[in-house]
Amino acid sequence: MVLLEVKNLTLGFYSEKNKKWLKALNNINFSLNKNEFLGIVGESGSGKTILANSILNLIPKQGKIISGSVLFKDKDILKLSENEVRKIRGKDIAIIFQDPMSSLHPLLTVKDQIVETLHAHGLINKTDALDIAMNLLKDVKIDLPELVLNKYPFMLSGGIRQRVMIAIAISCSPEIVIADEPTTALDVTVQKDILALIKGFKKNLNFSFILVSHDLGVIWENTDRVIVLYCGRIMESGKTKEVLRNPLHPYTFGLLSSIPRRTGNKLEILKEIKGSIPSLQDFPEEICPFLERCNFATKRCHDPVSLEQIDDDRFVACFNKGMFR
Ligand SMILES: Nc1ncnc2c1ncn2[C@@H]1O[C@H](COP(=O)(O)OP(=O)(O)OP(=O)(O)O)[C@@H](O)[C@H]1O
Ligand code: SF4
Ligand SMILES: [Mg+2]
Repeated sequence: MVLLEVKNLTLGFYSEKNKKWLKALNNINFSLNKNEFLGIVGESGSGKTILANSILNLIPKQGKIISGSVLFKDKDILKLSENEVRKIRGKDIAIIFQDPMSSLHPLLTVKDQIVETLHAHGLINKTDALDIAMNLLKDVKIDLPELVLNKYPFMLSGGIRQRVMIAIAISCSPEIVIADEPTTALDVTVQKDILALIKGFKKNLNFSFILVSHDLGVIWENTDRVIVLYCGRIMESGKTKEVLRNPLHPYTFGLLSSIPRRTGNKLEILKEIKGSIPSLQDFPEEICPFLERCNFATKRCHDPVSLEQIDDDRFVACFNKGMFR
């Protein structure tokens, strides 16, 4: 069952210098099914955060939705008033932002932040608050929750802050949780614990999950389906195992080849993608955005390219899909 549907989403930032809207998201289409774990992957600057945030109509001041819709329960979130969206945010769809420090209130204790979220959605009375907050911290595997409850964010380690963010996200039993790079700022052992927690939720809680990450290992381990994003456009999407075992787009192939592998005692990279992602003003709008960096380009790659459905659940935007094999 489809729970969320993003249709033809295009988001722009106006550039005085270029006298036009620069498209940070360009004609994005995808859906999220009930209980599905969907990954969004791509290099830094590919548009992952802008996409994750625009699902909840959190558009930066300088940005504008140029076209498209985000349908949730027959409503277009992008057309709702701020008051109406606020009712959905946190309660039906929760988001864990890329930087936990900036999204936790610096002047409120952990307990007050959890209680405030529940209160905002009319879910508890004050007497139950302490128990509920305590249980949520236990759910996210915080030892000694009674100590953490009365602390302010700056008093907590990065790992505990991230767990508190997850606790707040699941506090209202949302139908969808979006997590933007939930483990990137953490050291490796803490990363593993947080991902184990998320995987546990996949088994026990009844929500769908959108996991944003630049790390293909994290996406492989934790998602059912994946969208590969580049320059604000979908390059490839499909079932995670199929896309990553059998990539069809040279960009996905390049990302996979850039993962360091252990040979003997050495960590080796098979092949890095040449060059780097362009800045927003140089995102191509119609031709393949990967052209400049692609080792498999042919003459027709200078024509406009669009996402093509090649199987039930498999989409690719490339004239030479899979030709590198
Ligand atoms: N407020 C803004 N004004 C102008 N351009 C912006 C703004 N926010 C993001 N961008 C541009 O939009 C593009 C996508 O940015 P975004 O933050 O979504 O990338 P990302 O994939 O999340 O990167 P990272 O992995 O580093 O978090 C980038 O080119 C970025 O410079
Ligand atoms: S369309 Fe052409 S340039 Fe773009 S990824 Fe495919 S082969 Fe490379
Ligand atoms: Mg980001």
